[in-house]
Amino acid sequence: MGKIFENRVISNNVFWYKTRITKHHRMQLTNQKPCVLWFTGLSGSGKTTIANKVESLLFNNKNLTYLLDGDNIRHGLNRDLGFDEHSRKENIRRVTEVAKLFVDSGLIVLVALISPYRKDREFAKSILEAGEFVEIYIDTPIEVCEQRDVKGLYKKARSGIIKNFTGIDAPYEPPLHPDIHIKTIKMSADDASKSIFSFLVNKGYINVR
Ligand code: ADX
Repeated sequence: MGKIFENRVISNNVFWYKTRITKHHRMQLTNQKPCVLWFTGLSGSGKTTIANKVESLLFNNKNLTYLLDGDNIRHGLNRDLGFDEHSRKENIRRVTEVAKLFVDSGLIVLVALISPYRKDREFAKSILEAGEFVEIYIDTPIEVCEQRDVKGLYKKARSGIIKNFTGIDAPYEPPLHPDIHIKTIKMSADDASKSIFSFLVNKGYINVR
């Protein structure tokens, strides 16, 4: 009898095989320190916009990256998940496991998820190695997100068409000690992305090429 995980019996008879080529070998090849840049914030706060700009800066600097964006992942890997607390937890768990594999492959991974629960973000941090999780809080007041309402979802949430909408009838727990705190009403998306790029240079994740 194996372990029980979410009502399924998992075999104990699986083993971890240590590959000959490791993350450390790949780091020598790519000359960058792989990590996860975890963008958290309300829907419409600017996570995707800023993450895309950061990725462009990194790409132009010859860094290898991959962006895992909540909306996109929910079209494929996580298309079976909704927005109740359990589904969001599972959404974050799967994305974190994928991000961890990509970090192992040597990439700088950008994750843009609302990830409203502190404990889910703590889980993400906990399964990565020290220094591999960089929490970036995209701090935009809900009134501003709602006024922009790029996807028209706040309107739908206010009228009750969408339930469990973050910031309306579902919670958002802001990071207490983010590594980077971007207040979008005081800073443009271009300046925000440049400051994140500078952080990566200053902390030794990347070199300017
Ligand atoms: S998370 O909470 O599980 O991290 P995720 O980032 O994957 O969310 O997806 C959020 C996106 O799904 C939003 O940007 C929005 O476009 C869409 N969405 C649809 N329903 C909801 C909802 N109830 N709450 C928040 N976002 C929703």
